[in-house]
Amino acid sequence: MRQIRTLGLLGTGVIGSGWAARALHCGIDVIAADNNPAMEDWIRGSVDNAMPSLDALTADAPTPPKGTLTFTTDALAMARSADFIQESVPETLDIKHQAFAAVSAAAPADVVIASSTSGFMPSELQAGMTHPERFVVGHPFNPVYLCPLVEIVGGSATSDETRAAARTFYESIGMHALMVRREVPGHLSDRLQEAMWREILHALNDDIATTGELDDAIVYGPGLRWAFMGMNQVYMIAGGEGGARHFIKQFGPALEWPWSHLKAPPLTDDIVDRFADGTAAQAGGRSIRELERIRDECLVAIQRVLKKHDIASGATLNRFEAHLKSMAERRD
Ligand SMILES: NC(=O)c1ccc[n+]([C@@H]2O[C@H](COP(=O)([O-])OP(=O)(O)OC[C@H]3O[C@@H](n4cnc5c(N)ncnc54)[C@H](O)[C@@H]3O)[C@@H](O)[C@H]2O)c1
Repeated sequence: MRQIRTLGLLGTGVIGSGWAARALHCGIDVIAADNNPAMEDWIRGSVDNAMPSLDALTADAPTPPKGTLTFTTDALAMARSADFIQESVPETLDIKHQAFAAVSAAAPADVVIASSTSGFMPSELQAGMTHPERFVVGHPFNPVYLCPLVEIVGGSATSDETRAAARTFYESIGMHALMVRREVPGHLSDRLQEAMWREILHALNDDIATTGELDDAIVYGPGLRWAFMGMNQVYMIAGGEGGARHFIKQFGPALEWPWSHLKAPPLTDDIVDRFADGTAAQAGGRSIRELERIRDECLVAIQRVLKKHDIASGATLNRFEAHLKSMAERRD
């Protein structure tokens, strides 16, 4: 596998800029390509904004000199110079297909091309590419610079070497690589999130609760647990000494009723208003930038607490800092 000295980015919006910050923090140079020249200011501003949080996250480890960020509107020039390419253009199949056809024809055959797609399956994305075996989905979470999860999904043409190379690269920049066994629309995490969001929209539509009340139903209860134990482990514990078998016997029958809906409600103007007005009321006049700052400070604080328990994202952070320390020893 190539040593990744230069990360090439295609698309430098919310997700592309997050990838840039994470890589630069690890001393990797970034060539960021976007067909909108105005995105240069955006990505530079986003990276500057992310760096203090990344420094705070890895405060116990020496970090290498930051990589260098270069911006271009020439995707092919990016493709010829990058050791690994991460695509984060809009979630539209045509745009992605066109971008992959051009970039894969220009990039050397041993350069992995990964997509941040939230929901497309890798087999549908890699169709028509040059060397489709080096294509893989690497689906991150926002903000990419602080959330360690990346879902790695191969398509029918993806090689095992590509999956392994993607895993090695993502782990070297502090991520938790979740190897998804089989491609399905929405991968794993977004399927789970979608099920919950569908219920939220039903609750708004049925006038059961506001967006704020529904968010309270998460953050004061289940959400507190989910940062370190997923739903399955939490339910096992909730079964007491009888564990998961007792839990499913007690609460499983409710699935037959069921409490929740299986189809989303139609997205009427009224639901859109309730969602938008409700979340604006929750923001209480704070700007998106202010909310991002609060989010980022909490994400850093939570991971640094979990680090002491060496669990979940805290365990990933321990491995990341150990990697940064071994890189520093090699530099000395
Ligand atoms: N926003 C999220 O929370 C999130 C989370 C995980 C994954 N994703 C996925 O990441 C991808 C990007 O999402 P985003 O939210 O960053 O979008 P975005 O709209 O913020 O950014 C997309 C960028 O791509 C650029 N672009 C469009 N066509 C291009 C082309 N042909 N070549 C180069 N650049 C091009 C646009 O100018 C824009 O800057 C999508 O596939 C999305 O599903 C998004």
